[in-house]
Amino acid sequence: MCGIVGYIGDRDATLVILNGLKRLEYRGYDSAGLAILENSHIEIRRDAGKLSRLSLLVDEMPVHGKLGIGHTRWATHGEPSARNAHPHMGMTGDVVLVHNGIVENFLELKEELTAEGVVFNSDTDSEVIVHLIERHYSQENNLVEATRLALSFIRGAHSVVVISSREPDKIVAARIGNAGGVVIGAGQNENFIASDIPAILEYTRKMVFLESRQIAVVSSTDIKILSLEGEVIQPHIHTINWDAASAEKGEYRHFMQKEIHEQVRSTTDTLAGRVDFKTGHIRLPELNLTEEKAKNIQKIIIIACGTAFHAGMVGKTLIERIARLPVEVDIASEFRYRDPILDEKTVVLAISQSGETADTLAAMEEARSKGATLWSIVNVVGSQAMRLANGYIAMQSGPEIGVASTKAYTAPLIDLYMLAVLLGDLRGSLKPPDQRKLIGDLRLIPDLVGQCLERESQIEDIAGVLLNTSHCLYLGRGVNMPTAYEGALKLKEISYIHAEGYPAGEMKHGPIALIDRFMPVIAIALRDPWYEKMLSQVEQAKARGGIVIALATDGDERLPEIADHVIWLPYTPWLLSPVTAVIPLQLLAYHIAARRGLDVDQPRNLAKSVTVE
Ligand code: AGP
Repeated sequence: MCGIVGYIGDRDATLVILNGLKRLEYRGYDSAGLAILENSHIEIRRDAGKLSRLSLLVDEMPVHGKLGIGHTRWATHGEPSARNAHPHMGMTGDVVLVHNGIVENFLELKEELTAEGVVFNSDTDSEVIVHLIERHYSQENNLVEATRLALSFIRGAHSVVVISSREPDKIVAARIGNAGGVVIGAGQNENFIASDIPAILEYTRKMVFLESRQIAVVSSTDIKILSLEGEVIQPHIHTINWDAASAEKGEYRHFMQKEIHEQVRSTTDTLAGRVDFKTGHIRLPELNLTEEKAKNIQKIIIIACGTAFHAGMVGKTLIERIARLPVEVDIASEFRYRDPILDEKTVVLAISQSGETADTLAAMEEARSKGATLWSIVNVVGSQAMRLANGYIAMQSGPEIGVASTKAYTAPLIDLYMLAVLLGDLRGSLKPPDQRKLIGDLRLIPDLVGQCLERESQIEDIAGVLLNTSHCLYLGRGVNMPTAYEGALKLKEISYIHAEGYPAGEMKHGPIALIDRFMPVIAIALRDPWYEKMLSQVEQAKARGGIVIALATDGDERLPEIADHVIWLPYTPWLLSPVTAVIPLQLLAYHIAARRGLDVDQPRNLAKSVTVE
């Protein structure tokens, strides 16, 4: 969702901000703007549409300075337009702000401010904040204090970044709740602010993450962190290992395609240092898990949204089968409102690529308030979901830019498998020979992923078959039922084709009525414990005139007899088969969307990290 970039130092702030916003394009936005302190006053350029329009505006009306803030807006209040784009300026022209989040009481604040004589220039809720800051600035003459006081009047979750021409030596940033992160990049005689790491990664790897209810006062030589109550906090500097090049498209046409192809590396990195193939043990030190703690767990509840939720569904099968521990999986936005029954023997495990998804974070807070132990699996190290948890597993996917999640789906599948083995080991529920076999199977994964990717051409052919379809049904069972859900989600989000994932056994209870030659069926029918059942499901679909595209294991002689098309996959031990089975489905969605000429990396209406409820 909305992206923020701020800069103070000796470079041209306009260039740093435009460059940073460009790297945040993947978050999804519909207007963009920047504010630069130029010759003691603040100049704003903003427009609806893509960043290229903002760049054009800056070319026509150049603006340069050493301090500035920029924003890409994903509209919540007020249409995408130049007047609603951020930054927003107060009435004096001294104070300018960018904001992520929703001001829940903005109508009453707007009425109050209007009665005081404030004239609004936009339809946004964000504009009330800049007027509130100005109200206190005129009394306090101190930007930090005025921001702090203004924030005490607004309800909801927010990230704000503010500058003033009266205090040209600083940028003030604040975070309340979970409306997206605020990260401060520490440079040499220059500092950066961003909503997300890739925006500033090419300048520095030293990052400070703002916690909820903290304010950062950033000058070119100093980063000061205060609590909203004014207490000074020692900043903790994290070093980010991602390299800037990994956030570039390189030779690929789209980030999504690149990220699908990065899965040999990301699965290798996921295993590195965690699996001891000699002793047959798993190491996940950041979970802080001891034998005693593992034995004390009575239930795990996995919470997540979207693709991460599908990973959690696979995790349920893995942990229950391998560690014999009961697992529930819940959609984070439902969990937080269902008054869940939790205690200190329950572990709530959040899965989140971004670690900043508002629903997931709120669900974690609900779990914490009820005394559960919190774990997370996150891709963004330093993110809120990592910091909130008592223990975490960092995915080793590297930055994921495409809105449609791919490599950040397969990494947590492996993390969950390793977690299941670790729990089984510590709880004594796993027999040593079984453990050795499970660990040995992990070694095969990167190579099997590579084999799936090498078969891309068979997917391009199938993409041709499905190019003009309007609907698609994905069927799977057991450990690959979530693979069907994930395949369908990929297709709908980037190609805009209506797609449904369904547990194949449920077909006869209703959805079979839909099947005809206009409803292609993608059946995941691999050599796993559900193979025979899936074969009969494929037969049933064929009997109703459906066109069936089957995912089959190399060497299968029965499926080609029934299915119209077959996508071949190398044999993968069944508990790990969701890792390989999803790859052709990711490629299929990708090739269909790319051939339809769609914006694969930034599909309409979607955002990479969903920081509003
Ligand atoms: C995946 O393709 C989606 N864009 C989306 O469902 C995503 O997985 C979901 O919003 C959760 O995000 P998170 O992993 O960053 O929490």
